[in-house]
Amino acid sequence: MKEAGIIIVGSGLAALTAAYGLQRQRNVTIFTKKGLTDSNSWRAQGGVAAALAEADDWHAHLRDTMAAGRFHNDERMVELLVREGPQRLQAWISAGLEFDRDESGRLCFGLEGGHSRRRILHAGGDRTGRALVEFLRRQVDARIAEGEQVIDLVIENGRCVGVKTKRSDGVVSAWAAEAVIVATGGCAGLYALTSNAPTAVGDGIAMAYRAGAAVADMEFVQFHPTMLAVDGKAVGLISEAVRGEGAVLETEDGRRLMEGVHPLGDLAPRDVVARAIAAELDRGGRVVLNIAAVSNFRRRFPTIAALCDAHGVRLEDGRLPVVPGAHFLMGGIVVNEWGQTTVPGLYAVGEAACTGVHGANRLASNSLLEAIVFGNRVAQAIRRGIAWPEAMRQAVRRPDCRRPFAPSLPERTRLCERLSTEVGIVRDGERLRAAVGWLEQFSLSDWLDGDIEPLTAEQIETGYMLIAGWLVASSALRRRESRGIHYRSDVPYEDRAWQGRRLVRTREEWAWQAAGR
Ligand code: SIN
Repeated sequence: MKEAGIIIVGSGLAALTAAYGLQRQRNVTIFTKKGLTDSNSWRAQGGVAAALAEADDWHAHLRDTMAAGRFHNDERMVELLVREGPQRLQAWISAGLEFDRDESGRLCFGLEGGHSRRRILHAGGDRTGRALVEFLRRQVDARIAEGEQVIDLVIENGRCVGVKTKRSDGVVSAWAAEAVIVATGGCAGLYALTSNAPTAVGDGIAMAYRAGAAVADMEFVQFHPTMLAVDGKAVGLISEAVRGEGAVLETEDGRRLMEGVHPLGDLAPRDVVARAIAAELDRGGRVVLNIAAVSNFRRRFPTIAALCDAHGVRLEDGRLPVVPGAHFLMGGIVVNEWGQTTVPGLYAVGEAACTGVHGANRLASNSLLEAIVFGNRVAQAIRRGIAWPEAMRQAVRRPDCRRPFAPSLPERTRLCERLSTEVGIVRDGERLRAAVGWLEQFSLSDWLDGDIEPLTAEQIETGYMLIAGWLVASSALRRRESRGIHYRSDVPYEDRAWQGRRLVRTREEWAWQAAGR
């Protein structure tokens, strides 16, 4: 095995923040299966929520986060997020990070759904994620291996000691690491209609699950209400900041869609808005975003303007057709406040991790903040050598060497379609059972134990996608209530018995099933 120091898997904001916090202290190698511009962070239009405005405070940010998350959030972790976030951002602003300011040089604070105050910072209008990634890239001195896909985690004596990678030419390498950080993003890219980069398909989460790490809250996949719709397909995101600047949702005949639905109207939490749009589409209607009230649209939202131009949607008409698209996973690999997973030596951060801050529905613009706060915490934990708490240690079974089936490309496409129709915005037991049944045909337990090295990089990614899709669908089937974005028409209410109850999943459940056969 070659020595790689600290290994970070993935190259979005969480990965780069962790690398930034470790530099000059440790050798860091970042493996990323595509390139630095292929992450969700790079695409992020919306900003960073932080209580930095004079009229704001972290208590209000905490309350908004908990309310959007339907109180499924871990309040202790939310407090870390909203208290440390402003400090981290101030430090980066002092180091040269530029957020948008008004003519007198004061920071501009935008408004988005679920926020009771203007507290969203943007950079370059709607190019916030890209500005943050470029800022960190300039500072970080890690070795970055683009186009090298991590295909497996190496576990020895219950500890993660490295990774295996596969390059596009098929060469497999084994790397020894002092610690491994999974920062591969979420899995909303598993859906046919999605705002996500094609890389965000849950492979990092499934890989950690295969290695023995616990994952949780996988049923909570958030749908962004406004993706630009062209011929019924979602072609790109229209930031919620557009509604923050006065745009409103309308039906085809000009009726205000959100009137009377929620006190916050067009800026209601995302789950509420996405369901209202989905209901109108189900009735056979169309929904448009009326942008007549937004001044300087092109200057304020250059990415969205370019998206509309590229698809022949005329901004001058002032009505942009929209559909909801899968956007963000609130669940992921279970971690504590230092990003430590249940496998010693293995950390997770960003959307791949389940810190518990987002609960059942993420508050807008809290995800970049999470990447910054917890990316920094993981780096601190490694620098300070924070021990692995006993409560986070789990016995890990050693895989045997059966070779798993090789999933085909049409099956990958079918998976995305089935998740969209059967595990979408409105769910029910019957469709969830159909999705789980279809996924379980694929001998997933063989996948968890098998030798996957001989497969192609694409087949390996598809196998992990099936595992991630199965975790989403089966968790949604098990949660017999509606909460936040998880809405079941057969149990359309929050059940107090489920409040704060987290569905934690480990590969041991396969061992129990096998024993019972
Ligand atoms: C948006 O700009 O609407 C997306 C930002 C986010 O998901 O927080």
